[in-house]
Amino acid sequence: MVEISREPFGEIEGRLIDRYTLANRHGLRVEVITYGGIIRAIWAPDRNGQLANVTLGFADLAGYLDQNDPYFGCIAGRYANRIANGRFTLDGETYQLPTNDGSNHLHGGVRGFDKRVWDAEEISEDGAAGVRLARVSPDGEEGYPGTLSTTVSYLLDDDNQLRIDYRAESDRPTIVNLTNHTYWNLSGEGSGSVEDHVLQLAASRYTPVDDSLTPTGELAQVQGTPFDFTTPTAIGARIREGHPQLLIGRGYDHNVVLDRAPGEATLIEAATLRDPDSGRVLTIWTTEPGIQFYSGGYLDGTLVGPSGRTYRQGDGAALETQHFPDSPSQPAFPSTVLRPGEVYASTTVLALAT
Ligand code: BGC
Repeated sequence: MVEISREPFGEIEGRLIDRYTLANRHGLRVEVITYGGIIRAIWAPDRNGQLANVTLGFADLAGYLDQNDPYFGCIAGRYANRIANGRFTLDGETYQLPTNDGSNHLHGGVRGFDKRVWDAEEISEDGAAGVRLARVSPDGEEGYPGTLSTTVSYLLDDDNQLRIDYRAESDRPTIVNLTNHTYWNLSGEGSGSVEDHVLQLAASRYTPVDDSLTPTGELAQVQGTPFDFTTPTAIGARIREGHPQLLIGRGYDHNVVLDRAPGEATLIEAATLRDPDSGRVLTIWTTEPGIQFYSGGYLDGTLVGPSGRTYRQGDGAALETQHFPDSPSQPAFPSTVLRPGEVYASTTVLALAT
């Protein structure tokens, strides 16, 4: 039985923000706030049953409202990750989106889905329970065409699985790419580096980037490079190699191409992250073609988590299930176009075990 409780979590522009806590029979707890659809904490048992919060975040709403919030736990959209020069062409029309990351558009723009208040409703399904967030993004918001009706459901079950279902529909042709931007530290947030976490990715290719971190368009083999996580390897094992792509990303900040047939969107086991200290293991299943693996290279000791401790470089890693960055301008990448009458549907399952 998964139990749901709700408490106030502050206020923005006269709107009250709620925090929903989903708790299952193993004591695993997931906290979600209605600002940004943010996963504010996941309390997960270690091999001895001890709970720790394994996601980076802030103690209170003010942290998330600060412009220095590096997208902790949020829903990123309408287009997660980068669009080169903020520009794309769809059906012969060129759209200019705001640039908020050097010359690029990043994570939906100046005020993306991570900085919006979502409506919430409690849901239950086959013994799982959670919250469905909904928001209608008006035509033209952050430069995107089409009124986009979006829902994001977080459903926790008694097997320590959190399922995230994304749905969206538009009244005009548009582009969509949604993800959740949780940073993981399976020893507990604030406990230090995740370089000792052992990562496995079902990806024999990745998308190399230019200096501005947007894909060159190439699908490169990982074999023989520090990007080969096809067998379990510590995040830190090769992170200090002078590979040109690691220099650009301050470590890993790259999209990997999941091994699956082109166009296939079944739920596959895409990533496993294991912490040898606590014994916690995160397994990620997704219907998406890619994952942004970001090793937290821009955390610089200026942010303080709920534990009261600061986050330094590599103190958390994000594994963002997604379509590839800049897909609208890369014809060889899987399409992110959504047309009226179609339903954008994406599912990611985050399973925590020991
Ligand atoms: C991006 C990083 C960025 C981080 C926080 C990640 O998804 O790939 O480049 O620094 O989000 O904004």
